Amino acid sequence: MSKLGKLAAALAMATVMGAPAFAQDGMVVGFSQVGSESGWRAAETAVTRQEAEKRGIDLKFADAQQKQENQIKAIRSFVAQGVDAILLAPVVATGWDDVLEEAKEAEIPVILLDRNIETSDDDLYLTAVTSDQVHEGKVAGDYLVGQVGSKPCNVVELQGTTGSSPAIARKKGFEEAIAGHDNVKLTRSQTGDFTRTKGKEVMESFIKAENGGKDICAVYAHNDDMAVGAIQAIKEAGLKPGSDIMVVSIDAVPDIFAAMAAGEANATVELTPNMAGPAFDALEAYKKDGTEPKKWIQTESKLYTQADDPKAVMESKKGLGY
Ligand code: AHR
Repeated sequence: MSKLGKLAAALAMATVMGAPAFAQDGMVVGFSQVGSESGWRAAETAVTRQEAEKRGIDLKFADAQQKQENQIKAIRSFVAQGVDAILLAPVVATGWDDVLEEAKEAEIPVILLDRNIETSDDDLYLTAVTSDQVHEGKVAGDYLVGQVGSKPCNVVELQGTTGSSPAIARKKGFEEAIAGHDNVKLTRSQTGDFTRTKGKEVMESFIKAENGGKDICAVYAHNDDMAVGAIQAIKEAGLKPGSDIMVVSIDAVPDIFAAMAAGEANATVELTPNMAGPAFDALEAYKKDGTEPKKWIQTESKLYTQADDPKAVMESKKGLGY
């Protein structure tokens, strides 16, 4: 049935049943997810499923296994199926215009989740539910600068997926924070692709290149999973993570609180896995009466340190997709 036909049938049904004309029951939403590279990502998937179920939304889930071409295929398939909306967590920032234009032509609104895109036409998506990723990097950098004071500190960086908005922005924010603090230097920086395994591998190579790790004062990881991998590498090198080498990262997943409770990680910046709640709220309002959401629905970026009772915070996270 055509979109217009569907709408006419829904209106007729709503009139018969005395329900509001634009009731949202039965909305079908396609979700193109990046993959399952991190604990945070798995939690976001779980929360999105929960939120959809709670609202009676039929969620069509597609795992892109970290590949943009899979996401493009998934979006095209959602368009062909005539879904009511598409959620897209874009693996990288560029290269979306053509496929989003196809969704726009089919009048299917697209909502970006947790990562941004670079486009010259902001009308290609309805809204983006993301954190301020530059700010996240800045919060992490400010914390580190505050901790080291005037002591010299060589920092190594584990970047997220190359070309992804959090990798670009978290690097920028951190560099802004340490600029003007000549004692804090970024000495090595490489991608660990947001995974625990690659985070560990890259940290091992940093340790090898930096006098067995003795010349490293801190590791800044763009997510907690890479930080957990780095912690393993530090321990295997016979050093103490959290004290010999400080560990600062982003996400606030339970595993990093366990590491903080053990004194092996120093701080993390929280990223909520519940991007779908605000996204569905915006979508439902838009579908109901055309309410245009803000172009950017910003989530919070709270800093947690060892002083924040990591065990209690870890417990409080249960049920949030973790
Ligand atoms: O886009 C959000 C980032 O993606 C999370 O920080 C990271 O864990 C995930 O892979």
